Amino acid sequence: MRMVWESAPGVVAAGWAFRITAALIPLAMLSVGKWILDAVQIRTGGGTLPDHFWWWVAAEGGLAILGGVLGRATGFFDGLLADRFTRHVSVRVMEHASRLDLTAYESPAFHDLLERARAQATDRITMIHAIGAIAQQLIIAVSLSLSVLHFSPWLLGVLVLAVVPAFLGESHFAFLGYALNVRQTPMRRQLDYLRVLGASKETAKELKLFGLAGYITREYAQLSDDLYTQNVALARRRLLGGSLLSVISTTSYYSAYGYVIYRTVTGDLSWGSLQFIAGSIAGASANIQSIFSTFSNIADQSLFLTDLVEFLKVKPTLAASAHAIPAPRPIRDGFHFEDVSFHYPGNARPVLDRLDFRISRGERIALVGENGQGKTTLVKLITRLYDPTAGRVLLDGVDLRDYDIEDLHREIGVIFQDFVRYEMTARQNVAVGRLEAGDDEWRIRKAAGRSLAHDVITRLPGGYDQLLGRRFEGGVDLSGGEWQKVALARAYLRDAQLLILDEPTAALDARAELEVFERFAELTAGKMALLISHRFSTVRMADRIVVLSDGRITEDGHHDSLISQGGRYARMFELQAASYR
Ligand SMILES: Nc1ncnc2c1ncn2[C@@H]1O[C@H](COP(=O)(O)OP(=O)(O)OP(=O)(O)O)[C@@H](O)[C@H]1O
Ligand SMILES: [Mg+2]
Repeated sequence: MRMVWESAPGVVAAGWAFRITAALIPLAMLSVGKWILDAVQIRTGGGTLPDHFWWWVAAEGGLAILGGVLGRATGFFDGLLADRFTRHVSVRVMEHASRLDLTAYESPAFHDLLERARAQATDRITMIHAIGAIAQQLIIAVSLSLSVLHFSPWLLGVLVLAVVPAFLGESHFAFLGYALNVRQTPMRRQLDYLRVLGASKETAKELKLFGLAGYITREYAQLSDDLYTQNVALARRRLLGGSLLSVISTTSYYSAYGYVIYRTVTGDLSWGSLQFIAGSIAGASANIQSIFSTFSNIADQSLFLTDLVEFLKVKPTLAASAHAIPAPRPIRDGFHFEDVSFHYPGNARPVLDRLDFRISRGERIALVGENGQGKTTLVKLITRLYDPTAGRVLLDGVDLRDYDIEDLHREIGVIFQDFVRYEMTARQNVAVGRLEAGDDEWRIRKAAGRSLAHDVITRLPGGYDQLLGRRFEGGVDLSGGEWQKVALARAYLRDAQLLILDEPTAALDARAELEVFERFAELTAGKMALLISHRFSTVRMADRIVVLSDGRITEDGHHDSLISQGGRYARMFELQAASYR
């Protein structure tokens, strides 16, 4: 409720005002109707019509018109609220998701929760309307019931008794539905994945050539049939139970109605009273039933909302220490891995094993090692996307955990192997490296020039304003190497003290690679740089080369000295060099 209110206080207040007014109309109309009918009965019995009789008839028409207008106004505000609420919840979910650390994203359970929480923003709109509707129904039901009560208390009792079983039934099924949904989340995720896999630009080439489309579609169909079967089973039970209960309530309504007709026939009640009571009973019973079903609908929906609430309660585990200090600028000593061990959550195998490693100020280091030796993992620890399982990473002698994490990130520029291809303009793709510089055309062009992206971008039809990627109308796709040049420009724009490039040239052609590295040396002069690469032509330009193997640093030195040592580096280098001869 608080989230709804926060999302648009004015809209909520206006919507409620209209609902409450609308809720009083049924009773007003029935009362005027009774007065009119009683007057007619007197007139047909030989009496005279009261003064202003036709004005009352007009008034009833006026009330009906007012009711219609109020109903539309409520709909109007409901619509506005739906939009505001979707925005509000989506923003909260996105903000919260960005605060959580990567560890959370590794867990499938978290993914399921995130998935369900995300759906809340749009799927639970009806619940908000339901809350407003229930208040309106409540006012109608209470006002009409009080008038039924005025004629006969037990009539009201019959009505309430009729709806209680319906309510219990509804809430029972709501709970079953929720439980089923929770159980189905992993399947639904799988389904989403298959759908994307089966119909997306990224996968189209490979699916076609491997002839996988049919296979993926069959998998999808199979899985979605399984879901269907489960849903049908529940829907069938709900249909049976619901029908039985509705028979009970309709029977009770008509027995009450029959009783009122009987009293009118025997002359105990006037025509106006018959119409008034029958109308009140019908209105009250319809609204009481609606209240119960709306309520169980809300209960049903709010079960889903618990996912949203639970998601918003997940706390980042890499919380900053209470006395976080700003990152040093300039960095004096550099980074130091002190006996660092690390394994990923849910996998006991250590990726890094009591690793000792330094990056000193002004040093440009190349990190090499075979696939899966932990190079990228090491970068994640320097940038504190993860904390070490044991040991410490120090910056200028202070544990990274003591620094303000956002401040730390400002001092580090990283381009990962799997960098993001933003489907935005070329300018934005560079500017994300340092959003503050987004308006500074000159800096953006300079950074792009350094990474060789400038030539790529100026050749595009729209230049720096060209939309990249194929997702949106008018977008232009780049080749792998061109994307990489654009991503590199981000790192150069960043103006960080430590620059980390994880395979920055893997997709570049030989000439571009050479050019990038000739510039790299001058661009990183006086800064720290960590370069990860499988290309030894690149690696040999570094001041120092570090070999990572089985979670430890096994060799460390300049290219020539490592070659003369004849160790793993020398073997890897030879292997690559030999294949070129
Ligand atoms: N998110 C993760 N969860 C669990 N294990 C992971 C995760 N990321 C990586 N690993 C494992 O950790 C090990 C080291 O991975 P890492 O990505 O650091 O290797 P790398 O040296 O960068 O390899 P490459 O040269 O292929 O890029 C691998 O065995 C990998 O399977
Ligand atoms: Mg890697």
